[in-house]
Amino acid sequence: MDLGIRGRKAIVCASSRGLGKGCAVALAQAGVAPVINGRDRAALEQTAAEIRQSTGVQVTPVVADISTHEGQAAVLAACPDPDILVTNNGGPPYRDFRELDRPSILAGVTMNMVTPIELIQKVVDHMAARRFGRIVNITSVSVKMPVAGLDLSSAARAGLTAFVAGVARSIAEHGVTINNLLPGYFDTDRLRSGLAAAAQRSGTAEDAIAAQRLVQIPARRFGTAEEFGQACAFLCSVHAGYITGQSILMDGGVFPSTL
Ligand SMILES: NC(=O)c1ccc[n+]([C@@H]2O[C@H](COP(=O)([O-])OP(=O)(O)OC[C@H]3O[C@@H](n4cnc5c(N)ncnc54)[C@H](OP(=O)(O)O)[C@@H]3O)[C@@H](O)[C@H]2O)c1
Repeated sequence: MDLGIRGRKAIVCASSRGLGKGCAVALAQAGVAPVINGRDRAALEQTAAEIRQSTGVQVTPVVADISTHEGQAAVLAACPDPDILVTNNGGPPYRDFRELDRPSILAGVTMNMVTPIELIQKVVDHMAARRFGRIVNITSVSVKMPVAGLDLSSAARAGLTAFVAGVARSIAEHGVTINNLLPGYFDTDRLRSGLAAAAQRSGTAEDAIAAQRLVQIPARRFGTAEEFGQACAFLCSVHAGYITGQSILMDGGVFPSTL
């Protein structure tokens, strides 16, 4: 399907690896020139080279911590007027809620709520003026259901979801959409490090921990960054202009809802 966004410009935050990379690749396949971002220069340059080689589009890597004002400024300097913004970031580490002190709570909220809000504030009016804009926030299934040890991540992302619910409606008439894409269990470095940590804590083999997780997923497999990216690219397409303010689960059926 032609997504109708060839020649558009995107900022894809936290995209040297994992789900963010999946989104950058899928957008590039649709002919969009992405600014990609991460803190590790070598990984970021390698991803930029891969995307250039496989798609032929212009890819601009920006090494920056997206949670900082300096990092956001660097990314926006590389693309001051994006047509597409995909917000993404690392997540707070798994932790018992009793262990969270004020600085770690504020850091988690900054990472997964304040940072995407600040980025949206900086691009949305330019998008509205051009009468086209697509914003996709990568959040988590944990917005819909608790995941042990991720209470801070869930709360910050739920805060973002509530924040953009009204914003999305306020700018819809200008051709700008804001949606949230909620991953369940995707096979990325983050998932693998979580499995390894759980294996170490429990003295169980990593494969056994992975098998326990898979039993809880009706699709009986982990998701891939590639399929996540394709869904994101569709939400950024011309065909998705009437979808806004939605939280779309990609979880292989984990969250057992009727609606
Ligand atoms: N994978 C899942 O199953 C899953 C499920 C639910 C929610 N999520 C959430 O989705 C997001 C992406 O997860 P993932 O699995 O793709 O993680 P990942 O494989 O660990 O990749 C994270 C990416 O973000 C970059 N990054 C991290 N912190 C950054 C920062 N402060 N500034 C700029 N870039 C940063 C990393 O590069 P550098 O380290 O080089 O900066 C890397 O490119 C996370 O917030 C995660 O909590 C994931």
